Amino acid sequence: MCGIVGYVGPQGALDVVLEGLRRLEYRGYDSAGVAVLSDGELSTAKKAGKLANLEKVLAEEPLPSSTIGIGHTRWATHGGPTDRNAHPHLSADGKVAVVHNGIIENFALLRAEIEATGTEFSSETDTEVVAHLLAAVYRETPAGEGRLAEAMRAVSRRLDGAFTLVATHADEPDTLVASRRNSPLVVGIGETADGTAEYFLGSDVAAFIGHTRNALELGQDQVVELHRTRGATVTDFAGAPVEPTSYTVDWDAAAAEKGGYPWFMLKEIAEQPQAVADTLLGRLGESGELVLDEVRLSDQELRDIDKVFVVACGTAYHAGLIAKYAIEHWTRIPVEVEVASEFRYRDPVLDRSTLVVVISQSGETMDTLMALRHAREQKARVLAICNANGSTIPRESDAVLYTHAGPEVAVASTKGFLTQVVACYLVGLFLAQVRGVKYEDEIAAIVDDLRRLPEAVAKVLEQMEPVRELGRELADANTILFLGRHVGFPVALEGALKLKELAYIHAEGFAAGELKHGPIAVVDQGTPVVVVVPSPRSRNSVHGKVVSNIQEVRARGARTIVIAEEGDEDVVPFADHLIRVPRTPTLMAPVVTTVPLQVLACEIADTRGFDVDQPRNLAKSVTVE
Ligand code: F6R
Repeated sequence: MCGIVGYVGPQGALDVVLEGLRRLEYRGYDSAGVAVLSDGELSTAKKAGKLANLEKVLAEEPLPSSTIGIGHTRWATHGGPTDRNAHPHLSADGKVAVVHNGIIENFALLRAEIEATGTEFSSETDTEVVAHLLAAVYRETPAGEGRLAEAMRAVSRRLDGAFTLVATHADEPDTLVASRRNSPLVVGIGETADGTAEYFLGSDVAAFIGHTRNALELGQDQVVELHRTRGATVTDFAGAPVEPTSYTVDWDAAAAEKGGYPWFMLKEIAEQPQAVADTLLGRLGESGELVLDEVRLSDQELRDIDKVFVVACGTAYHAGLIAKYAIEHWTRIPVEVEVASEFRYRDPVLDRSTLVVVISQSGETMDTLMALRHAREQKARVLAICNANGSTIPRESDAVLYTHAGPEVAVASTKGFLTQVVACYLVGLFLAQVRGVKYEDEIAAIVDDLRRLPEAVAKVLEQMEPVRELGRELADANTILFLGRHVGFPVALEGALKLKELAYIHAEGFAAGELKHGPIAVVDQGTPVVVVVPSPRSRNSVHGKVVSNIQEVRARGARTIVIAEEGDEDVVPFADHLIRVPRTPTLMAPVVTTVPLQVLACEIADTRGFDVDQPRNLAKSVTVE
């Protein structure tokens, strides 16, 4: 939530900052703003709404040229999405400009204290207190090297809550400082063609990926000073030096472009066969065994596990629901799945022999991070399934399994989800392998099934035109219901979530067996009902029961949209629309059945004229609780 960018170096700062904001806009689009420092004076421009509004303002009233600047794209928390509340915020003396991501929980107290000195506030934000405090503390800090960083440390020590702050001071034309507690921030270190050093700050690496792939991770409660000639200096809040971890970003700039697609979401849907293949790459051994060297838990630790919790939010939680079916079936270890925001507040029973699997595409979701910390405090082992390298969640976990989906820019998760599901299969199967609860040939047979998944997803994608056509027909629907059973139930939940968030249509997912216990009352003449049908070949088949459910809703006037595997003829008489998917083993069916639901939601939203990549009220990475 909220995108932050900073730059100091030889290039025109405004262009670099705006380019970074363009790449980070998915983090929030309630307003955007920039500040640059030129001839000892700070100039700002800010505007409510999307970045395009700010760009219009800048075209009419350009800012002075500068080689140091900061920028922000906002997801509003304190104060509405207005010009006034847009970042950067300036101190009363106009000397300090600051941008912020997070929530400063003691801001009311600090604001009262500052107002008591006669300072007037010009916004309703929590952030503005930092601008005033920083200016005041700077005045009292002895002049010399590192003065702004020293002031930032002193201010950070007074703040409660979560924050990434980036600030610049009119008297320090060569310095940017940033502070981080519980909100994301990465540093980019680059060099122009003539060998001049340049420094970047971003909420994630997408902000500077067009300039450098060399990055530094910042830990909790750390302050970084980026100085044009002295380079990057990191300390903790007390001022003790810290040696930051450097890493190379393995995404390239092209991966974060639309590549000719009208929406990032469409591109990301199309990338799913590759993303699934990349997530499996190097993890399936030649003789049919799993090779998960990066899971840094010993075999003994994995053998000692007697309970698994899967904890995540939103779409990642749906991946967790699917994980339960696979892990329990393959390992016989009990699995509980819970949304992260509930998990830690109900005192879950955890100990050393509990494995907590946290799933997060961004690696920065605050609810999931807090759940992870709670689990570790209780001595549970934590394994993260994550897509973003160097993010907080994998850094704080005992073990990590990266999905290799590449950057996911559209706010609605698609390839992130599919690769999370695949990573869950890998975890489940690896546990079964280490614990010896499956014969080698059984594991090898499942590994073969996994190898076939990318091709199966590609096949689904080839047949999406009728789904798009259906999407255009359904664009005026008021309610769409989704039914599924067994692993089809989480798929139904995911289909409903995609539709709600993109098309703003009321949608609900149900376990098909629950239908008669209430939800069927919602069905009316013409109500579209999407049914995810399990394979007729599965042993404990619920197929027949779901076919009956289709008939039940149809008898009450529903327009049935049936997703069924090739060769399933039982559904044909009751399907108003039939969407075929390739035959897939029961547990792996979600990898193919989810795809048409993504396409359907995308097409309905597009037909309704909505911004598919940036749905209203949402942000890609939810970094506040
Ligand atoms: C929905 C969606 C969200 C995220 C959720 C968790 O399409 O994208 O529900 O899945 O906010 O995000 P991560 O996976 O980054 O923790």
